[in-house]
Order: sequence, then C-alpha cells, then structure tokens
Amino acid sequence: VPSAPPAGGAGRCPIDHSAMRAPNGCPVSARAADFDPFSDGYQQDPPDYVRWSREQEPVFYSPQLGYWVVTRYHDIKAIFRDNITFSPSIALEKITPTGPEANAVLASYEYGMSRTLVNEDEPAHMPRRRVLMEPFTPPELGHHEAMVRRLAREYVDRFIDDGRADLVDQMLWEVPLTVALHFLGVPEEDMDMLRQYSIAHTVNTWGRPKPEEQVAVAHAVGKFWQFAGKVLDKMRADPSGPGWMQYGIRMQKQHPEIVTDSYLHSMMMAGIVAAHETTANAAANAIKLLLQHREAWEDICADPSLIPNAVEECLRHNGSVAAWRRLATRDVRIGGVDIPAGAKLLIVTSSANHDERHFNDADFFDIRRENAGDQLTFGFGAHQCLGKDLARMELQIFLEEFSRRLPHMRLAEQAFSYVPNTSFRGPEHLWVEWDPAANPERRDRAVLSARAPVRIGDITRVDAYRTVKVESAVALTSDIVRLRLVAADGRPLPRWTPGAHIDVVCAVASGGIQDGGASSQDGAAAARPISRQYSLCGDPDARDAYEIAVLREPDGRGGSAWVHEYARAGALLRIRGPRNHFHFETDRGTVLLIAGGIGITPVSAMARRARALGLDYRLIYCGRSRASMALLDELTALHGERLQVYASDEGRRADFTALLATPCAETRVYACGPARMIDALTQACAHWPQDTLRVEHFTSALGKLDPSKEHAFEAVLASSGKSVQVRSDQTLLQALRDAHVEVRSDCEEGLCGSCEVRVLDGTIDHRDVVLTRAERESNTKMMSCCSRAAGKRVVLDL
Ligand code: HEM
Ligand code: FES
Repeated sequence: VPSAPPAGGAGRCPIDHSAMRAPNGCPVSARAADFDPFSDGYQQDPPDYVRWSREQEPVFYSPQLGYWVVTRYHDIKAIFRDNITFSPSIALEKITPTGPEANAVLASYEYGMSRTLVNEDEPAHMPRRRVLMEPFTPPELGHHEAMVRRLAREYVDRFIDDGRADLVDQMLWEVPLTVALHFLGVPEEDMDMLRQYSIAHTVNTWGRPKPEEQVAVAHAVGKFWQFAGKVLDKMRADPSGPGWMQYGIRMQKQHPEIVTDSYLHSMMMAGIVAAHETTANAAANAIKLLLQHREAWEDICADPSLIPNAVEECLRHNGSVAAWRRLATRDVRIGGVDIPAGAKLLIVTSSANHDERHFNDADFFDIRRENAGDQLTFGFGAHQCLGKDLARMELQIFLEEFSRRLPHMRLAEQAFSYVPNTSFRGPEHLWVEWDPAANPERRDRAVLSARAPVRIGDITRVDAYRTVKVESAVALTSDIVRLRLVAADGRPLPRWTPGAHIDVVCAVASGGIQDGGASSQDGAAAARPISRQYSLCGDPDARDAYEIAVLREPDGRGGSAWVHEYARAGALLRIRGPRNHFHFETDRGTVLLIAGGIGITPVSAMARRARALGLDYRLIYCGRSRASMALLDELTALHGERLQVYASDEGRRADFTALLATPCAETRVYACGPARMIDALTQACAHWPQDTLRVEHFTSALGKLDPSKEHAFEAVLASSGKSVQVRSDQTLLQALRDAHVEVRSDCEEGLCGSCEVRVLDGTIDHRDVVLTRAERESNTKMMSCCSRAAGKRVVLDL
C-alpha cells in the first residue's frame, strides 16, 4: 500500500506480512501489533516504551487499542494546532467501552457527563473558553498564592519530625485537591471520598477495568456525578463566591447560550479531576525525578531561582499527562501516513517530550534546558490547559518548601506502581527519608521565612543558564578563536547533534563592551547582557567539553569582540542551549556539505558525523584565503579527498550552478555561510526537489514574520500615552514586551486567545483563528501575538 516515508525513512508502510491490517489497508508491524498502553512497560516509562516508534514508525495503528498512535513532537504539535481537522471530542470518551451492567449502574445515577471545555468542538469552544478565562490570568491566580503556601507549610509541618513519609499519601494528593476545591469554589469535602471518586473517573475514562471492576468503578463515577450536581445546586443558590464555578454561574447569566447547564455540571466533575489529579501526579513525578538526580536537587536547594525552569523540565521529562486524544474529522496525512476520517488518535505527548528532533539529548534530565518550556504536557493551541499556571504555582511552591526545609531528604527503597491507564501518570506512593536531627529549621528558624518569588504566567527561559569555564582559547587564524568550554561544576554536559548551537551571554551593554564581565558569573550578569549564537564544532558525543570557533566581526554589535577580549583560559561564561534548528538528517545516501567562512563550524560537525556513519559525502569549503579559513588542517586530515577547498585569493571559486546542475533525489545539501552564498545556492537548487537544500537558521523559522511583506506601525498605550514602535520584523507582543509592558501569551500563533488586548482606535489586520467575524469587524480587540495594525497606528487599552 503506498504511503510515502516521511523524513528519517521512518513511518513507511511497515512490511510485515502478518494478516493484520490497519484501516488504511497497510499491514500492521509486529511492534505496532504488540503495543499495549495498559502493560507494565508503558506504565513504567511511556516514552521509553514507544522509543522504537519515535525512531522508526512514528505513526502506527494499534489493533489492540483501535487507535492510531502518534509519537513525534512535530506531528503531535501539528495535531494540536489544528483542532478542526483533529477534533478533541473524544478526549474524555471511555477508552475501554463498558459492558451493559456498568452502563446500567451509570444510568441509575443519571450519569450524563458530556461536553466540558477540553472535549468541545468549535465554534462552541472558543467563546466559552474566553468567557471563562479570567480567573486563570496571573493577577487572579496571584490571590491563591498565600493559600497554596499555607497548605504546603501545614502539611510539611505534620511530618517534618518523622524522618520518613509517603509524600503522595501525606501531602501531594490532598494539597492539590484542596487547592482545586478552593479554586473551583467547592467547600472542602471528605478528601478520601473525592480521592476515590477521581481515581474511578481516571480508570473509567483512560483505563482498562476488568468487567468485574467496571461495576464498582461505575458506582464511584455515578456518585461523583451526583456529588457534583449537588454542589452545583448549592452554588446556584448563592453564586457570589470567588470560585471559578461561581464565576461560571455568573457568566451563565450573561451568556446563557455559551455557558450551558449541561456544561456546568460536566465541568464541575471534570474540573475537580483536571485541577487535582494532574497536579498531584505532576508533583510526585517531579520530586521523584529530582531526588533520582541528586545533583539537580542539590542545585535547586542551593539556588531556588532554578525552580521555575526545573518545573518545566520535570513536566517535560516525566509529566503527569502521558498521552491525549483527538479524532480525525477528514482523511488526512500525518507523518507521511494516510489516516482515514473517523480515525481515533492517541497522541503520546510524553513521547513528543523525548523527541530528539526537538529536545537536544532528550533523555538527559537537565534543569537548565533552554527549551524545557516547549513541553507538550499541557497540550497546545486552542485547548491548551487553562490551569497550567495554577499548576506551575503549586509545583514551584512545593519544590521551594521541600528544598528549603528538607534538602537532605532521599528516596527510600521502593518499587513504584501506577494506576494502569493511558493518560494520567504518577506514582501511587512516594516514600522519602531523612534525618530529622539535621532539619535546617532546628538550627535556624530563618529557613522558614525564605521565599523565592513564584513566577506565574511567564516562563521565559532567563534562568536556564549554565556556567562554563574556558579551558582553552586558541587562535585559529588572525581573527578566529577556538574556545573549549567545560562545565564549571565539572559535571557532564548535554550531548548535542551536528548543526546545534549555544547562546553565549556577552557582557556588552548598549554603550559598548563592559570590563570584567567574563571573570565571574555575577560579573557577567551585572552588565546588560546580549547573547550571541555560536554553532558547536568538535565531537557531538563528548560530554566533557563544547567547542566553538568565534570570528571577530568588526561591524558586529560587540559580542564577538567581547568574546575575543575576555574569553581567555580560566574565564567563566554563561551559556544557554545547546539547541538545534539545523538538523542533519542522515536518511539519504548522498550528502553535500557546503561552508563559507566561519559557516564551517556546524558543517564540520556534520562532516564528522557523515564520515562516522560511512555516508557518501563531499565537503566544500569556501573562503577568502587559506590563512583566513579555520580548521583546515584538521578537516584535511579527517576528510582527505572528500574535502574541496576554494580560496578566492587562489583564483578558485566554487561554481554552484555547475555543481548542482543535475538534480538527484538521493542527495541532501547542507549549507552555512554568508547570505550571498546561500542566495546563490538557493538559485542553483531551484530545480531540485523542494527540501533538498537545508541552511542554518539561528531561530526557529516557524511563524516567522517576513519583514519584506510587513509594515512598521505605532502602538499608543492609552493609560500613559506612551508610544511603542512595532518594527516590520517583530510582533506587537514582542514590541510591547521590549517596552516592558506585560502581556500574557501562550501559543504565540493566534490559536489560544491568551494575548488578547483591547483596541480603542485604529483598524486591525486580524490573523488569529480566535475571534469571531463579528468581533473582527468590531475592531475592539486583537491578538497581539500575530495581528497587526492595518494602518500606521493603533491605540490600545493598556
Ligand atoms: C486542559 C494537562 C492542571 C484545567 C488540559 C489538557 C491537558 C492538561 C493535556 C488538554 C490540552 C489540549 O487538548 O490541548 C494538565 C496538567 C496539569 C493540569 C499536566 C498539571 C500539571 C490543571 C489545573 C486546572 C486545569 C490545575 C484548573 C484549575 C484545565 C482546563 C482545560 C485543561 C479547564 C481545558 C482547556 C480548553 O479545552 O480550552 N490540561 N492540566 N488543568 N486543563 Fe489542565
Ligand atoms: Fe495564543 Fe496569541 S493567540 S498567544
């Protein structure tokens, strides 16, 4: 059955001549046939369980589940991005249909769970989401911070002198449940009962209960449903409270067609689970993970400013939602595989979070990971978790409390068990031990008052820096220096892949280079830093050092001059990354590698990999003169005949038109160098298959503005009269942030509705999918992440 292989050679129609066939007619591979998300393998470690799929068959049909399973980051994000083609309507459907007996039990409770937010289609969903969004905004969430801190403190007080605790049973289950009830406005009810109810809901929705269990689960779910109804009735009598449900009831009065009765009842029940179990599990996973990586734990104990990024990395590495669901509403192709309309999809977000194509050294647990916040544990786009910042707040406060009061706690010996289901994931128990005599607060009560500010809403990656030491700085040419950087704490560095770069923080202020910035971490932080991106050369698998080659650019903004001046042996630098936007795919037989000048750095790493893999490759290296070309000796020794050098002072220029005269589907071309070289290559490759030429992009090209097609405009802030200039190469959101105006954002692609600003004057060029046509035409609001002024000026209600 024809089904073109996607990049990587993976995903091809699996040639396994078993009798089993997927609904698209393709045979089912043996591993796909074996896939069982209720097995111990998936329960213990979902991303590891589907590693084979991520690598070889990223979209497959599972006959045991009756679902198509998707495991790569890019495919999953594309699915989240398009909630019309990929409907969320099955998100809360029972993954294991129940038998008649259990159904009768549910009916006896008049169980009628239907649409909430998470499983609602457009056009009903987005207006409802927007009407109900306010209580989730950072200023509103800020009101809950003291409550979360108080609860965390009280629960730790209860066991701090015991030396041993099951954190799940003694704290992590109840505190998020209490927070959830506060947030929703539900009186604190019998916690144990609610815990049983919500586990039953998980098993009912995402589990595979045996027929005899189904009846007991149905009773618990039915009771939960009735409990939700009663609480709601009480609230209706007096909806003045501060909770989200009361807010919903009040909104129902204003918008009865948007916030319906059935919605409120379903949301009451689903909301408790959404807010509670997810966060309880996330907290248990995070603490387990940090204690298993003792050095990371000690780092956050020593420096609590690392906590917000550590939370993101924990959610990425071992999040509490392992997989989510969508329904294909039309025939569609995902990852090169044709999927029929009506297909159910299990999108394994935990696998996406371990995808090497997006996360460098993906299995490595790295609390300084620069893009940890890209994790998909909260979903993405129109349905992205509304409660994520409440969850983040809780997780940050828990980690802060534990790292201050119990820095000496360790995991006790134990086997971890999980409630078998596809989606909600966290250990049922988490035993930790410590010596109470060593509790810091016994020596110093001040420990109890230390507070790291909770960062709500903004997960910018500012704290994700790593300090490295310049081990050596060697001049390669008169204006290129090669730096070998080792971790300042001597620990292994994350692996990287050819094409990756790091950001180096250069202590350059707008007034020019600052003195001494490289000599200490504090020094580097003191000047107003800019960062510069440098591709990694050297050996990608070496964890002991990174190597970069830096060209002094006289016309630059001072970053490279700063590196040349201050990055001497022994100096400390701050870096972010590695990150790769220039992936080296090794799926085609022949590789042409082309570098101009300092562009050799990423290309040299690719050449090394091509050689190691025994690929058929050629390396073309162009420069002004041999004397100006870095790494020449090394490259000659490594690549011999495969290297062709074109030095213009020798009268030799590469003729790209001749070189690329005959297209070849089996060849990929990778290039890094000056813009005119890339332009020439783009022209020379114009008649080649579309994705042949790959060039270096230091930032992700996705959603990038094309400045040649945009115009600059002015945004006036009504409250202050301040004027913000929005350049043609930036979004309104970026310009506002540069002007220190805080605007919330999530997807930054016009999908989710978080970045809305009110417009008082000016016509808008709307580019989102959030606003209705009437709203667009009213010209009173806009999504600041993507929409722009149609004219020269807008006045905003900011
Ligand atoms: C939606 C995960 C905490 C409320 C979602 C979705 C996921 C998720 C995967 C679906 C996303 C999509 O379809 O794109 C999590 C995780 C949490 C968490 C991992 C904790 C670590 C919370 C909390 C609340 C909450 C604390 C409420 C206070 C919601 C709501 C939606 C949602 C209302 C539906 C949004 C929509 O469809 O527009 N969450 N969640 N979640 N979550 Fe969470
Ligand atoms: Fe999602 Fe703008 S619409 S951030």
